[in-house]
Amino acid sequence: MKKRSKLPPLMGTMLSFILLLFIFQFPHKSSTRLHLPKPSLRLSIRPNPNPLLQHTASVLLQDWQILVFQFYPSVEASRRMSCLFRDNSVTPARATSFSNAFVCPLPRRLRVRRPFYSPLPVLSDKPVRKQYMNINTFPLMLRWNWIVYESLSTAKDVVVFAKGVNTKQGINRPARELTCLFYSSDNRAPFYTTAVTSSSHEVFRCHHPDLNAIPESTNQIFVSLRIGNSDESSDPLPSVAIYTPPSQQPVLHQKMKICACTMVHNSAKFLPEWVRYHSAIGVEKFFLYDNGSDDRLNLTVNRLQSKRFNISTRFWPWPKSQEAAFSHCAAINRDTCEWMVFIDVDEFVYSPSWSNSSRPGRSMLGSVLPVQPTVGQVSIGCYEFSPSGHRYHPRNGVIQGYTCRRHAEERHKSLVRLDAVDRSLVNSVHHFRLRDEFEWKKVGWARVNHYKYQAWDEFKVKFRRRASAFVPDWMDRVNPASKDRTPGLGFEPVEPAGWAWKFCEVNDTRLGDLTRKWFHRG
Ligand SMILES: *[C@@H]1O[C@H](CO)[C@@H](O)[C@H](O)[C@H]1NC(C)=O
Ligand SMILES: *[C@@H]1O[C@H](CO)[C@@H](O)[C@H](O)[C@H]1NC(C)=O
Ligand SMILES: *[C@@H]1O[C@H](CO)[C@@H](O)[C@H](O)[C@H]1NC(C)=O
Ligand SMILES: *[C@@H]1O[C@H](CO)[C@@H](O)[C@H](O)[C@H]1NC(C)=O
Ligand SMILES: *[C@@H]1O[C@H](CO)[C@@H](O)[C@H](O)[C@H]1NC(C)=O
Repeated sequence: MKKRSKLPPLMGTMLSFILLLFIFQFPHKSSTRLHLPKPSLRLSIRPNPNPLLQHTASVLLQDWQILVFQFYPSVEASRRMSCLFRDNSVTPARATSFSNAFVCPLPRRLRVRRPFYSPLPVLSDKPVRKQYMNINTFPLMLRWNWIVYESLSTAKDVVVFAKGVNTKQGINRPARELTCLFYSSDNRAPFYTTAVTSSSHEVFRCHHPDLNAIPESTNQIFVSLRIGNSDESSDPLPSVAIYTPPSQQPVLHQKMKICACTMVHNSAKFLPEWVRYHSAIGVEKFFLYDNGSDDRLNLTVNRLQSKRFNISTRFWPWPKSQEAAFSHCAAINRDTCEWMVFIDVDEFVYSPSWSNSSRPGRSMLGSVLPVQPTVGQVSIGCYEFSPSGHRYHPRNGVIQGYTCRRHAEERHKSLVRLDAVDRSLVNSVHHFRLRDEFEWKKVGWARVNHYKYQAWDEFKVKFRRRASAFVPDWMDRVNPASKDRTPGLGFEPVEPAGWAWKFCEVNDTRLGDLTRKWFHRG
């Protein structure tokens, strides 16, 4: 490793950088207000040779977990990290599916003292050095509900994802009241501002900055939003969203016909069955949005990739942001995939008309799609399967294991033509808003088998977490009639009597019979 212990002058520079980064939030031309934390700053900072101090941002999530981003240089995935706090306490960091981010808990005794200060990322395999102990000025942590958290570039504009601007369902701040700004990691003053052209919940669209205005030799460019459109406006939101200039190359490759997009949270063990099945019926590429899994998702994904399944994972730890993840997925893959199916890893698209096929075919799913060019979205009804007598995860997978379902069709899932999606990227998880010239069609001869009510061991974990934006947590005593609740289940994570045979109204082994024929021959 590099000489870490003998760099005193450099040190000061690094720390000042961090201070600037967080304490002096974005000073810019017209605003000289500085945001100092309440306690007076004692700048008795000692040289600290740890290069990990640079380019760090800490975000306080729910449940007292801290998300630490290490933008540059990125942490080697193999290094074990810890978080060192202002009072010298240390908590271990957990790796995430994104090598530039890890998660540490905030120590209990610091939870009662506001404001909350960022930890310093330190390497666990190094003893904490004396000089760390002397640092008593730590930047404030960012909050997960007031942040620009992601961005992507299309040829024409920048899509920016932010929490805190539009917080009420259906009520959006007009785009003209917002400004998009771009700054380099070396200098928090924006070098460019552009107009916002769309504002819908957490998704915003802005013009690109003038590429000639981008400062040379900058490590990273961040994009942020400011409420207000004049110089008198408020300070920008803090941002962890890195801006990438649009690619200058025209897109030449042929689009894939159908891809799949899903959000996962500790679903690694369900993934191989889901990927293998959908790949066999024609899904060419899988996009996983990882909501902070800690089940070594990367291992499972790497194993599937080595079997030539095309999968990519994106770290998406933001609470209640499934709609935003799907907007992101639709926008970023518009030139890659013609159609995208948005389903969960416990959902399997299937058509009873395939039951006589002796083997799966890669054109099968495509055959569900209508031929009319005006159809932009196809929706498919879901059947909800029950625990079917199981007390534990069935060894030969969900399709073989769960064979009894509720009678009624519930909800629907969609296959969306990505170039038909409205530019607001508005969706409700289950379907997207389309551009005016496209229509939406329901198909009757395909359906989704949703293995929703699984063996209690699985179900209790799954229903603790709610994914979409306006759905309450299962154990909150609000909205008891919500369709997201399980009828008769109440608010406690306790196994209800007779769970294993609940919701079993119709034996339905059609998909099970089919996949046994397809995959378990001999
Ligand atoms: C996990 O995989 C993703 C992409 O497949 C990669 O970007 C990321 O760095 C990996 N994370 C770790 C911790 O290896
Ligand atoms: C995997 O998907 C990407 C698009 O996300 C594509 O560029 C690449 O060619 C695919 N790889 C294979 C082996 O098909
Ligand atoms: C499958 O084949 C059987 C026997 O030939 C036939 O009765 C049935 O209608 C076929 N099913 C489908 C969905 O084509
Ligand atoms: C992600 O997980 C957190 C808990 O870790 C949960 O609060 C949140 O609702 C989840 N979000 C999504 C979009 O699944
Ligand atoms: C499903 O099939 C099993 C036997 O295989 C039978 O005992 C049970 O009553 C059936 N359930 C329903 C709801 O038809």
